[in-house]
Amino acid sequence: MRVLGIETSCDETAAAVVERDEQGHGRILSNVVLSQIAEHEPYGGVVPEIAARSHVEALDRLVARALEEADTPLKEIDAVAATAGPGLIGGLIVGLMTAKALAMAAGKPFHAVNHLEGHALTARLTDNLAFPYLLLLVSGGHTQMILVRGLGQYERLGTTIDDALGEAFDKTAKLLGLPYPGGPAVEKAALSGDPARFALPRPLKGEARLDFSFSGLKTAVRQTASELVPLSDQDVADICASFQAAVADTLADRVSRSLARFREQFPEIGEPTLVVAGGVAANKALRAVLETLCARHGFRFLAPPHILCTDNAAMIAWAGAEHAANGQGDSLDIAPRSRWPL
Ligand code: KG4
Ligand code: ZN
Repeated sequence: MRVLGIETSCDETAAAVVERDEQGHGRILSNVVLSQIAEHEPYGGVVPEIAARSHVEALDRLVARALEEADTPLKEIDAVAATAGPGLIGGLIVGLMTAKALAMAAGKPFHAVNHLEGHALTARLTDNLAFPYLLLLVSGGHTQMILVRGLGQYERLGTTIDDALGEAFDKTAKLLGLPYPGGPAVEKAALSGDPARFALPRPLKGEARLDFSFSGLKTAVRQTASELVPLSDQDVADICASFQAAVADTLADRVSRSLARFREQFPEIGEPTLVVAGGVAANKALRAVLETLCARHGFRFLAPPHILCTDNAAMIAWAGAEHAANGQGDSLDIAPRSRWPL
């Protein structure tokens, strides 16, 4: 079956066509993503109104391109799926309305997908991964450790109690005068910095619960920077390196606890899998820490290709295909939800 997917929950407009065979194997026929980074860059973050308008302008064209690249006219699509939440409400409305209209026009089933479920199921599209597995989702909007037990069975083991990890990178970059998005800029600056120069906090480290917290770390960065003004390039590099070291330490603590808990819960699985997703998963220093942890705990470390880790529509189309294969479908009355926990 072939599913057309649409994603408009944040600052990427995306459309894709994905195929799922009878054995449950997935294949991406097209995957078009238009990033709005340049439009939001002057504001140092995503401006919801600008995002919604850009989705309206770009979406029709992107859907046409996704169908064309997949060599699949709309009438040969078996279902249409769109992100219904969580996310910025203006963008969600644009994507959902478009998908409903296409489904109605083509007379095909419609699937409303939770964006987080899209991230959670991506490893089944790329690697045909069997349930259960662990997912660490670290993006600009989300920081969650999720136990993926099965389709529709997601247990949130931990989440951030304040800022998302990508947001902490973005805010740190902003207050050091680095460009947006902050993650790649901080990672680059950290390469020439001394991670031991500043002792920044490791929030919630050592606590039994699996939640994350990053706002205290951001405040400590602000405090450190304000005491050094004017900042030299070396100061900026040292702060970035110290920040990244604190993040790595915190992640390692939370993740190793999660791996140990998974082992206790599923002793019969020889080599379980930890999947990482979200824009922050691109960070090489953090990835190295996670890979080492996985090796130590006997876990397989699985990071889908970058284009499928960040926001995209292939993951939404795939989630729709999994729903369809499971006999699920949604009514055209379904409304977008800016908040929608898994
Ligand atoms: O998944 P994503 O593309 O979009 C959503 O948040 O939905 O993630 C973007 C986030 C931004 O906060 C960005 O700063 C962060 O991912 N990011 C990184 C890196 N590349 C992107 N953070 C740390 N290191 C990176 N190399
Ligand atoms: Zn996302």
